[in-house]
Amino acid sequence: MTLEAALGSAVGPEHVLLDRDLRASYETDWTGRFSGQSRAVVRPATTAEVARVLQECSGARVPVVVQGGNTGLVGGGVPPAGQTGDAPVVLVTTRLADLGDVCVAARQVTAGAGVRLAALTAHARAAGLDFGVDLAARDSATVGGMVATNAGGIRVLRHGSMREQVAGAEAVLMDGQIVSRLDGLAKDSTGYDIGHLLAGSEGTLAVLTRVRLRLVPSERRRAVAFVAVAGSAEAVDLLAGLQTVLPSLAAAELCFAAGVALVARHLGVRPPLEGAGEAYVLVEAAGQRDPVDELLAALQACPQVLDATVATSATDRAQLWALREGHTEAISALGVPVKLDVSVPMARLAELVDRLPEAVAAAAPAALLVIFGHLAEANLHVNVLQAGEDGERVTAAVLSLVANMGGSISSEHGVGRAKARWLGLSRSQAEIDVMRSVKAAFDPLGLLNPGVLLPAVL
Ligand code: MLT
Ligand code: ZN
Repeated sequence: MTLEAALGSAVGPEHVLLDRDLRASYETDWTGRFSGQSRAVVRPATTAEVARVLQECSGARVPVVVQGGNTGLVGGGVPPAGQTGDAPVVLVTTRLADLGDVCVAARQVTAGAGVRLAALTAHARAAGLDFGVDLAARDSATVGGMVATNAGGIRVLRHGSMREQVAGAEAVLMDGQIVSRLDGLAKDSTGYDIGHLLAGSEGTLAVLTRVRLRLVPSERRRAVAFVAVAGSAEAVDLLAGLQTVLPSLAAAELCFAAGVALVARHLGVRPPLEGAGEAYVLVEAAGQRDPVDELLAALQACPQVLDATVATSATDRAQLWALREGHTEAISALGVPVKLDVSVPMARLAELVDRLPEAVAAAAPAALLVIFGHLAEANLHVNVLQAGEDGERVTAAVLSLVANMGGSISSEHGVGRAKARWLGLSRSQAEIDVMRSVKAAFDPLGLLNPGVLLPAVL
């Protein structure tokens, strides 16, 4: 039997996409930057089907690329460009979409890897709780993909990244073995935490099929301010002030005048507080009680605030959030950017913002730089448009600068294919060797997401 026929018998032939046109949308990433050919796209609906798919691919020695909602930004969920060996099978997890009942007492729920973030959040809210991670791609991003990349988003200062939400996981190894720990025990000291190890493993160790997730208390009363400050140093000082006087602080996001103007043009709106400052901080306060008075008092207490607009209604809040979350689409509307996602120690964030234009211009003189990010984690999204042939030079320049400043080359998007060759800038050789040993223990044939996360051995 051919592999295609075996996959058809594992998941049903209608869920094995062989036609070139049907495969196409799974072979190119959201940004349009990463694209490659697959042998087939397979859409299993149960853990048992995932196990059969992996067993068949293992037997045929065919590599497997794991894909969730295809919202990744580092090429980790699509086949590699110009591969020389066997084209991989793309295993898409979106049909693993079961959502269990919320356990209110334990504040936990079990979600299939293919559950979309927005569906998970709505489910938690219907039970009077909330999910702690939120990000702009909420309608498409899946739980499995978010755990696999240890996604962060806009509420990390309050609840941490995806890894912190993981109370257990079920996953399938490349040989079809299922490892499962979904009981969600609040205390458990019985050795290695496989769920936490899989968080950030980018599909290189096993295919996540279900995740036991922590939920957080609902804080439905919200107020949002869009605050103009002189620059990034003042934004950092403002954050420090807010953390002291605003216990309900739930998000602190950073953008700059040029980026906000770009987004406003894209959305067809007038940028707020135009000309009031070089940088803007979007501040959100959240609580069980209306936090607007607390937010206003906090802004008055912070001397860095040059001007601010405060939104209390859901519509006004959404408009301010659109100015921040709209950056990704507004940038992509201008072309395919080199997207970098870095963090540095907070004390050096302003210095990084100051040094980036020169570093990028030296690598690609005609390029257009747009920076925004998550202020509370000193996490900048560095987007470079019109880099032309110099994309790799830009990447090298920015990542080296960040590494020299004691930072990380991937703050929340993962390493993927885009940054695998630069992993050594953030991880020591000893760490990379240990990661390779872990990879070999889970996937001895090296068939899961080859080329993602770990640099190729030359
Ligand atoms: C964001 O913070 O909006 C996301 O990480 C997406 C991006 O960086 O473009
Ligand atoms: Zn982000």
